[in-house]
Amino acid sequence: MLKEINENAQSLRHTCGAFFKSNLRRLKEQLDGADKIIIVGCGTAYNSGLVAKRWFEGCGCTLVDVEVASEVRYFPPKVTKSTLVLAVSQSGETADTVEAASILRGMGAYVVAITNVDYSAITKIADQVVNVVAGCEICVAATKSYIGQLTSLYMLSQLKKGTADCGFAVLNQIAQSVESVVQNDELIDKISSLCAKSSAVFFLGRGIDYAVAVEGSLKLKEVSYIFSDGYPAGELKHGTLALVDEKTLGIIIITHVQLLEKCQSTVEQIVSRHGRVVVITTLQGVLEKLKGKAECVLTLPEADENLSPFLTATAVQLIAYKTAVKLGRNPDRPRNLAKSVTVE
Ligand code: AGP
Repeated sequence: MLKEINENAQSLRHTCGAFFKSNLRRLKEQLDGADKIIIVGCGTAYNSGLVAKRWFEGCGCTLVDVEVASEVRYFPPKVTKSTLVLAVSQSGETADTVEAASILRGMGAYVVAITNVDYSAITKIADQVVNVVAGCEICVAATKSYIGQLTSLYMLSQLKKGTADCGFAVLNQIAQSVESVVQNDELIDKISSLCAKSSAVFFLGRGIDYAVAVEGSLKLKEVSYIFSDGYPAGELKHGTLALVDEKTLGIIIITHVQLLEKCQSTVEQIVSRHGRVVVITTLQGVLEKLKGKAECVLTLPEADENLSPFLTATAVQLIAYKTAVKLGRNPDRPRNLAKSVTVE
């Protein structure tokens, strides 16, 4: 798992380069003509869609839905001949995602497969393929493929927006920052010690940070077996706050400067119930603001909030990995899980 997290920047760069081998003219036509975009996938692939929804909406797409593939089989969303489906799957063999893509295509939608594996089942169903070039991912927990999926989805959103290089330049800059997150992992070590001592870890954030929080939670529970949930920060007070006590850790992701104050109040809500708090941020000056409240503030390189998921996701992957190791669990062989789920 660690080796694959260390390859995040490479996955980003290679996926970026490969994007231009896709038929961009056809993709652009589909993006511009779409009445609705539906992103479909399972687990981490689904979670990449939660991030991408924000990107596409920021580029003027009015209707963007993210669907869990296993639900589509029995409860397919409404589609028309102008609906664009982005079916995301690292392996391209996940039965639920392949079936969902097939059903939606049968209903008339145009299906683009976003996958790390050439000639996989999903590529045979799709009208078009966008390649993720993460390299072979062996570990059950998806890490570098998530970064590759985010890269493809970001470039598609920029293609829709009309950005000349589809985001190639800014993505290559962010790849350098991803490398520095992996190299400076002293604080991540401290955070994983806090996780290892906790009975429950809540990953919280707003907007795009919430989308990454969901993935952070999935990663942690997959490899450390600690109970975890990913939550919109503002929802905490509507129920989950009842679970907070001295054994609970809240990991709050903050990358929107305009939401900093709101997130500070989430920190206070947890601390006042004796819970412990860690903050992951790309904003400067947060450490000073939260002194005496958060046990630890991990300040990542400054980044545009839209590109921050590449950094915050790398950080939460490392936290999950290190927590598992601290608890003596083998992150490369998580119990009960298979790399590719080819049955319903
Ligand atoms: C991720 O860490 C998981 N192992 C799992 O959620 C995975 O993302 C999911 O099963 C989908 O797999 P796929 O991308 O190969 O379709």
